Amino acid sequence: MTARIIDGKAIAQELRTEWKARVDELKSGGLTPGLAVIIVGEDPASKVYVGNKVKACAEVGLYSEHIALPADTQESTLLAKIAELNVDPAIHGLLIQLPLPSHIDSQKVLEAISPNKDVDGFHPMNVGALVTDTTLFPPCTPSGTMKLLEKMGIEIEGKHAVVVGRSNIVGKPMALLLLHKNATVTICTSRTVNLGKYTRDADILVVATGKPQMITGDMIKPGAVVIDVGINRLPNGKLVGDIDFESAKEVAGYITPVPGGVGPMTITMLIANTIQAAERAKRQE
Ligand code: GUN
Repeated sequence: MTARIIDGKAIAQELRTEWKARVDELKSGGLTPGLAVIIVGEDPASKVYVGNKVKACAEVGLYSEHIALPADTQESTLLAKIAELNVDPAIHGLLIQLPLPSHIDSQKVLEAISPNKDVDGFHPMNVGALVTDTTLFPPCTPSGTMKLLEKMGIEIEGKHAVVVGRSNIVGKPMALLLLHKNATVTICTSRTVNLGKYTRDADILVVATGKPQMITGDMIKPGAVVIDVGINRLPNGKLVGDIDFESAKEVAGYITPVPGGVGPMTITMLIANTIQAAERAKRQE
């Protein structure tokens, strides 16, 4: 069997076109949704992500500000910039690209973002709201994954979903979103003893460990839906996910490629959250 490929790039494009209409409507009412992205330092991957975010915003008609601060920026300077953007009426969404340099306390920074502009959904208030399924800003990568499942017509209720990875950005929120759709959820990590025992029982398998090609075809249940959140560059320059695509696609029912699977959905959901923030700001005018 060869798996159906989940084309994240095409689905992301379709959604962005759809949402452009929402942006146009807001604009005709005199409000342009605005996103500010702050990057501190020179991490090459972060620079690529931020560049892509800014480009995607322009495509959909959002206003965006890209604030690049040097790697030796003091924490107090960053906090002052956040305080300024928190009250800037042109900015509805504010995102601090992670990771931050080690001399800055990331948690303190995330807590300084206004929960109403926290389009990443990383403020503790929004994390709490995610637990109770009331958040306005579900974290972008997990919500992009949910959108892919929805668009592919994949049923979640009653299914066994196994999430490999426990990060605050992907693994934990992913597990919660699946749980809210009535999946039976198991959370594993890359260190789980006999990991294959769990992954082989998954109807829906989501992997976000940052370990290149660690999940192989023999660890997958025939016909399973396999979502690869990983993006790793091999020494030969090739981009690969956390799943060994070649062996996995022979067993899975559906699979996301890397690149072109989950990746394009992350930015798409960031746009959705920014539009949502602007629509909310408008309601509260
Ligand atoms: N770094 C890696 N993923 C993310 C993300 O989703 N948001 C932010 N702000 N930084 C990241």
